[in-house]
Amino acid sequence: MSNIAVCARFRPLSTKERRDDGDSICIQCLDSDTFTFKDEKEGNSTFTFDRVFYENSEQAQVYDFLALPIVQDAVKYTNGTIITYGQTGAGKTYSMEGPGILESDDQKKGLLPRVVDGIFECIKSSKNANKYSVKLSMVEIYMERVRDLFDLAKDNIQIMENKSQGILLNGITEVSIKDPGEALQSLASGIANRAVGETQMNITSSRSHCVYIFTLQQELKKDNRSRTSKLVLVDLAGSEKVEKSGAEGRVLEEAKSINKSLSALGNVINALTSGSSVKTNHIPYRDSKLTRILQDALGGNSRTALLCCCSPSPSNAPESLSTLRFGARASHIKASPRVKCNEDKSAKKHGTPPSPDKDESCERILNELQKRLDEEDVNLLEELFILEGIFFDPNSEEELELALEDVTLKTIVSLKQAVEELACEVKELKNENKALKDEITRVKVSDAKFVKTGEASSVVPRILGLCSFFSVSWFESFLPLSR
Ligand SMILES: Nc1ncnc2c1ncn2[C@@H]1O[C@H](COP(=O)(O)OP(=O)(O)OP(=O)(O)O)[C@@H](O)[C@H]1O
Ligand SMILES: [Mg+2]
Repeated sequence: MSNIAVCARFRPLSTKERRDDGDSICIQCLDSDTFTFKDEKEGNSTFTFDRVFYENSEQAQVYDFLALPIVQDAVKYTNGTIITYGQTGAGKTYSMEGPGILESDDQKKGLLPRVVDGIFECIKSSKNANKYSVKLSMVEIYMERVRDLFDLAKDNIQIMENKSQGILLNGITEVSIKDPGEALQSLASGIANRAVGETQMNITSSRSHCVYIFTLQQELKKDNRSRTSKLVLVDLAGSEKVEKSGAEGRVLEEAKSINKSLSALGNVINALTSGSSVKTNHIPYRDSKLTRILQDALGGNSRTALLCCCSPSPSNAPESLSTLRFGARASHIKASPRVKCNEDKSAKKHGTPPSPDKDESCERILNELQKRLDEEDVNLLEELFILEGIFFDPNSEEELELALEDVTLKTIVSLKQAVEELACEVKELKNENKALKDEITRVKVSDAKFVKTGEASSVVPRILGLCSFFSVSWFESFLPLSR
């Protein structure tokens, strides 16, 4: 089963689309999750998603279906991610924020303000925690740099990976929020710093990918353990055809950067959904800041929802079709979200990976327990096994590969050194050998002279001199030759 819920949303036709194409649309609703898409070139295709929100859909419906279950799970310590994807002007920011983040019309409020309300409601109704805290961070990925929207001086945040907490943004500002009102004010101040520009496709086009991170921390009543989960919302910048959006100069550079990172995202989705085993595939998360930040969301360390936003207009049919195909592909990603707990994990390092036998036994026990206990208990046990180094953490596979590479490299370097040392020794031995041969030749020559001239008395002391010059063992093997 896929852990990514994929929905499609069609916004109403824009004034420009109505002016250019009248009221015609390229979709035909079949039911709440299936529709036929009509394209002049490619003909009719039928798409099925977890849910389809048509032009007259309400913001509340999108929240209730797509986001609420993720918010509820985040309060139960499961990481969650909600992503809006689609062509420029397709309604991503509208779905995320509404007409404005401080929108007072309850009907038009977007996902963000509803998520904020949902977090506080769920925390208050949950009776498990003694204490809780909610923190908010906001970054944008603009021209392949991660910028802190709460502190513009931090304009090149580094992305790091931590075994227990997953992907981390080093040194980002975290604002504590006590209630929904405070959260909205903080969101508004961050959004005001986001890069927005005007294009022919959208007068308020997002020129960056915006990432909203809610960190929920709770101290549980039953064991005073502290748990942290992350709820991440991502409003992507839209893909655009520059000839349509009229981009030039800086806007063109932005468009290229946006398209490049979206294509990296497409490659990651392709890698995650192609081949028989994801484990043996290389997933190119590191090809862009966007895919690196979304690594947890796509790689299984999060419960994830993707909202594919589209225009219903035939004039945008090729772009909508491409968005829908992206969504269809993403719906095939298979992974299961993992519960994260923020206890001091750094104190306990993983040892060497356990033997496969031990690993298999642990898995068998976990499967047995799964039948008897509820999911949360099993997840906790699994986490404990991983912490104790009993159970092999699949997330650390990449780290193991790196460690192996490291050992291999070190071995190669020491082998090269040994070869070099050997080469030096061989060279020295050759020189010694040459010196010996020269000496033999010299002795032979003077020996011949002696035979001729009868100077026998000088030969013996010369040979004895050679004996002291060379090792005895070598001389012993050499002696018969000189006789
Ligand atoms: N469901 C909707 N109902 C009413 N208006 C909508 C809806 N979706 C989008 N719009 C309007 O369409 C326009 C473009 O929407 P939006 O800014 O959300 O696009 P986007 O996908 O974020 O584009 P970009 O990638 O350029 O940022 C806005 O004027 C917005 O108000
Ligand atoms: Mg936008």
